[in-house]
Amino acid sequence: MSTRRLAQEQPESFVFSDTSTKDVEFWLNKFPEARKQSAVIPLLWLAQEQEGWVTLAAMESIAERLDMPKIRVMEVATFYTMFNLAPVGEHHIQICGTTPCMLRGANDLKAVCESRIGKKGATSEDGRFTWSEVECLGACCNAPMAQISNKDGHHYFEDLTAETLEALLDKLGAGGAVKAGPQNGRQTSAPEGGPETLKDESLFDGSRGKKLKSIPNAPQSSPEPSPEKKGHPKETTRDSQEKARTDSQQTPDPETKEDKKAVKAKDADGKKGGGDA
Ligand code: FES
Repeated sequence: MSTRRLAQEQPESFVFSDTSTKDVEFWLNKFPEARKQSAVIPLLWLAQEQEGWVTLAAMESIAERLDMPKIRVMEVATFYTMFNLAPVGEHHIQICGTTPCMLRGANDLKAVCESRIGKKGATSEDGRFTWSEVECLGACCNAPMAQISNKDGHHYFEDLTAETLEALLDKLGAGGAVKAGPQNGRQTSAPEGGPETLKDESLFDGSRGKKLKSIPNAPQSSPEPSPEKKGHPKETTRDSQEKARTDSQQTPDPETKEDKKAVKAKDADGKKGGGDA
């Protein structure tokens, strides 16, 4: 692990640019006022994206903005190797030196950097390259690896050897384009020589898919109510049952003694009514 010290020469002041200020506001809006210190890493990153490195003045400015002790901001900036504590060259080569990469040849990569650029943390005389050693960058299955940061972004170069790293530095030094990812032809993180499982193309090309007749749990469109019912609550099943029960109570049952009279009277009324018509 490299020693993390602040640069000897520091600018006197730091101010977020107008563009960075918008991003600062974005991050501050993500946290409640009482928890705004949670934005310390994003703000340090924005300062680095703006200046190329994190200056002491930037740390102090961020501490003031977040109502944090300056030392707390310095602790964060000096702990994470993603923050550059001194200016870096056009291409920043970050060699992972953690155990899996070390066992797979990281020391050879460091030797290349030392011979071409200088001691750990050094910047080449032409300002094109800086190299540093960092801890695991999460690409251990393709060890050894390095992250190269430049104006095109931050890219991983994996399955490196001393020869492939030399070739990369040659191309970058000549202003050429380089291809990120595994440098030995490996397909992403598949085994060397190609995938050994899940090789059936039909697993991925969609040919096994069956068309859905409908989408489960999709919202159903309800029919437009008839004009006369608009504004009235729809009659529920419970309402219908209640209505049927009441109707049945009001309709005379021809089988009971009392109701036989009522049925007869009703029939007589019907005949009478029909005669009148
Ligand atoms: S050990 Fe090097 S990427 Fe994890």
